[in-house]
Amino acid sequence: MPRLLFVCLGNICRSPTAEAVMARLVADARLEHAIEVDSAGTGAWHVGSPPDERATAAAAARGVAMRGTARQVRREDFDAFDLLVAMDDENHRNLRALAPDAEAAAKVRLLREFDPAAAGAGSLDVPDPYYGGADGFDRVLDLVEAACAGLLDELRAAVPSRD
Ligand code: 4NP
Repeated sequence: MPRLLFVCLGNICRSPTAEAVMARLVADARLEHAIEVDSAGTGAWHVGSPPDERATAAAAARGVAMRGTARQVRREDFDAFDLLVAMDDENHRNLRALAPDAEAAAKVRLLREFDPAAAGAGSLDVPDPYYGGADGFDRVLDLVEAACAGLLDELRAAVPSRD
Protein backbone atom coordinates (compact mmCIF):
# COMPACT_ATOMS: atom_id res chain seq x y z
CA MET A 1 0.00 0.00 0.00
CA PRO A 2 1.67 3.26 -1.05
CA ARG A 3 1.87 5.79 1.76
CA LEU A 4 2.60 9.32 0.56
CA LEU A 5 3.87 12.24 2.64
CA PHE A 6 3.74 15.63 0.91
CA VAL A 7 6.30 18.06 2.33
CA CYS A 8 6.77 21.84 2.10
CA LEU A 9 8.28 24.42 4.44
CA GLY A 10 5.42 25.44 6.72
CA ASN A 11 2.82 22.69 6.13
CA ILE A 12 0.10 25.32 5.89
CA CYS A 13 0.01 26.15 2.14
CA ARG A 14 1.52 23.83 -0.47
CA SER A 15 1.76 20.41 1.17
CA PRO A 16 -1.75 20.41 2.70
CA THR A 17 -2.99 21.53 -0.73
CA ALA A 18 -1.22 18.56 -2.35
CA GLU A 19 -2.54 16.23 0.35
CA ALA A 20 -6.13 17.43 -0.25
CA VAL A 21 -5.88 17.31 -4.04
CA MET A 22 -4.37 13.82 -3.93
CA ALA A 23 -6.99 12.61 -1.43
CA ARG A 24 -9.68 13.84 -3.80
CA LEU A 25 -8.12 12.11 -6.81
CA VAL A 26 -7.67 8.91 -4.80
CA ALA A 27 -11.32 9.02 -3.65
CA ASP A 28 -12.56 9.69 -7.20
CA ALA A 29 -10.54 6.68 -8.35
CA ARG A 30 -11.99 4.59 -5.47
CA LEU A 31 -8.51 3.81 -4.22
CA GLU A 32 -8.84 4.99 -0.59
CA HIS A 33 -8.20 1.42 0.53
CA ALA A 34 -4.88 1.38 -1.27
CA ILE A 35 -3.26 4.82 -1.06
CA GLU A 36 -2.65 6.80 2.14
CA VAL A 37 -1.85 10.54 2.11
CA ASP A 38 -0.48 12.93 4.73
CA SER A 39 1.61 16.12 4.81
CA ALA A 40 4.27 17.80 6.95
CA GLY A 41 6.66 20.77 6.93
CA THR A 42 10.43 20.93 7.21
CA GLY A 43 10.03 23.98 9.50
CA ALA A 44 8.35 24.19 12.88
CA TRP A 45 6.93 27.76 12.87
CA HIS A 46 3.34 26.78 12.17
CA VAL A 47 3.11 23.49 14.07
CA GLY A 48 -0.44 23.09 15.41
CA SER A 49 -1.97 25.58 12.95
CA PRO A 50 -4.73 24.85 10.44
CA PRO A 51 -4.05 25.36 6.71
CA ASP A 52 -3.63 28.98 5.53
CA GLU A 53 -7.04 30.56 4.87
CA ARG A 54 -5.96 31.71 1.41
CA ALA A 55 -4.99 28.16 0.46
CA THR A 56 -8.23 26.80 1.90
CA ALA A 57 -10.30 29.35 -0.06
CA ALA A 58 -8.49 28.69 -3.35
CA ALA A 59 -8.95 24.93 -2.93
CA ALA A 60 -12.61 25.28 -1.91
CA ALA A 61 -13.24 27.25 -5.13
CA ARG A 62 -12.21 24.06 -6.97
CA GLY A 63 -14.28 21.79 -4.76
CA VAL A 64 -11.28 20.55 -2.77
CA ALA A 65 -11.64 20.47 1.04
CA MET A 66 -8.48 21.12 3.05
CA ARG A 67 -8.14 20.00 6.63
CA GLY A 68 -5.54 18.97 9.17
CA THR A 69 -3.06 20.52 11.56
CA ALA A 70 0.49 21.46 10.66
CA ARG A 71 3.27 19.24 11.92
CA GLN A 72 6.99 19.02 11.36
CA VAL A 73 8.53 16.15 9.41
CA ARG A 74 10.46 13.68 11.58
CA ARG A 75 12.99 10.93 10.92
CA GLU A 76 10.39 8.24 11.68
CA ASP A 77 8.45 9.45 8.63
CA PHE A 78 11.05 7.74 6.47
CA ASP A 79 9.85 4.41 7.94
CA ALA A 80 6.15 5.29 7.97
CA PHE A 81 5.94 6.45 4.33
CA ASP A 82 6.97 5.00 0.97
CA LEU A 83 7.43 8.35 -0.77
CA LEU A 84 8.26 11.75 0.70
CA VAL A 85 7.17 14.21 -1.97
CA ALA A 86 8.86 17.62 -1.77
CA MET A 87 7.27 20.79 -3.15
CA ASP A 88 10.55 22.50 -4.07
CA ASP A 89 14.30 21.99 -4.27
CA GLU A 90 14.92 23.40 -0.82
CA ASN A 91 12.44 20.97 0.78
CA HIS A 92 14.05 18.20 -1.27
CA ARG A 93 17.55 19.07 0.00
CA ASN A 94 16.39 19.38 3.61
CA LEU A 95 14.57 16.05 3.46
CA ARG A 96 17.57 14.26 2.03
CA ALA A 97 19.74 15.74 4.78
CA LEU A 98 17.29 14.43 7.38
CA ALA A 99 17.13 10.92 5.88
CA PRO A 100 18.77 8.38 8.21
CA ASP A 101 20.33 6.32 5.41
CA ALA A 102 20.57 5.98 1.63
CA GLU A 103 17.46 3.83 1.38
CA ALA A 104 15.47 6.54 3.15
CA ALA A 105 17.00 9.29 1.00
CA ALA A 106 15.87 7.39 -2.11
CA LYS A 107 12.25 7.85 -0.98
CA VAL A 108 12.52 11.63 -1.43
CA ARG A 109 11.10 12.91 -4.72
CA LEU A 110 10.05 16.25 -6.18
CA LEU A 111 6.29 16.53 -6.79
CA ARG A 112 6.57 17.96 -10.29
CA GLU A 113 8.76 15.05 -11.41
CA PHE A 114 5.39 13.31 -11.76
CA ASP A 115 3.93 15.93 -14.13
CA PRO A 116 4.70 14.66 -17.63
CA ALA A 117 4.15 18.16 -19.02
CA ALA A 118 6.81 19.61 -16.70
CA ALA A 119 9.67 17.60 -18.20
CA GLY A 120 12.28 19.98 -19.58
CA ALA A 121 10.44 23.00 -18.15
CA GLY A 122 13.44 24.15 -16.11
CA SER A 123 12.64 24.52 -12.41
CA LEU A 124 10.37 21.85 -10.98
CA ASP A 125 9.50 23.93 -7.90
CA VAL A 126 5.97 24.61 -6.69
CA PRO A 127 6.68 28.25 -5.75
CA ASP A 128 6.07 29.30 -2.14
CA PRO A 129 2.85 31.41 -2.19
CA TYR A 130 3.02 32.61 1.44
CA TYR A 131 4.21 36.20 0.88
CA GLY A 132 2.34 36.74 -2.41
CA GLY A 133 -1.22 37.36 -3.56
CA ALA A 134 -4.20 35.14 -4.26
CA ASP A 135 -2.94 34.29 -7.76
CA GLY A 136 -0.02 32.43 -6.18
CA PHE A 137 -2.42 30.04 -4.49
CA ASP A 138 -4.22 29.37 -7.78
CA ARG A 139 -0.86 28.70 -9.40
CA VAL A 140 -0.05 26.22 -6.61
CA LEU A 141 -3.31 24.42 -7.35
CA ASP A 142 -2.60 24.30 -11.10
CA LEU A 143 0.85 22.79 -10.54
CA VAL A 144 -0.29 20.44 -7.79
CA GLU A 145 -3.31 19.14 -9.74
CA ALA A 146 -1.20 18.34 -12.81
CA ALA A 147 1.53 16.62 -10.80
CA CYS A 148 -0.83 14.66 -8.54
CA ALA A 149 -2.68 13.33 -11.59
CA GLY A 150 0.65 12.08 -12.94
CA LEU A 151 1.58 10.60 -9.56
CA LEU A 152 -1.75 8.77 -9.36
CA ASP A 153 -1.23 7.36 -12.85
CA GLU A 154 2.13 5.91 -11.73
CA LEU A 155 0.65 4.46 -8.56
CA ARG A 156 -2.39 2.96 -10.27
CA ALA A 157 -0.14 0.77 -12.30
CA ALA A 158 1.14 -0.67 -9.02
CA VAL A 159 -1.95 -1.02 -6.78
CA PRO A 160 -4.80 -3.52 -7.15
CA SER A 161 -8.28 -2.20 -7.99
CA ARG A 162 -11.38 -3.36 -6.05
CA ASP A 163 -13.55 -3.28 -9.15
P1 4NP B 1 4.21 26.43 2.77
O1 4NP B 1 4.22 28.02 2.81
O2 4NP B 1 5.65 25.98 2.94
O3 4NP B 1 3.69 26.13 1.41
O4 4NP B 1 3.31 25.97 3.88
C1 4NP B 1 4.86 28.76 3.79
C2 4NP B 1 4.23 29.00 4.99
C3 4NP B 1 4.83 29.78 5.95
C4 4NP B 1 6.08 30.32 5.70
C5 4NP B 1 6.72 30.08 4.51
C6 4NP B 1 6.10 29.30 3.55
N1 4NP B 1 6.69 31.15 6.67
O5 4NP B 1 7.78 31.68 6.38
O6 4NP B 1 6.13 31.31 7.77
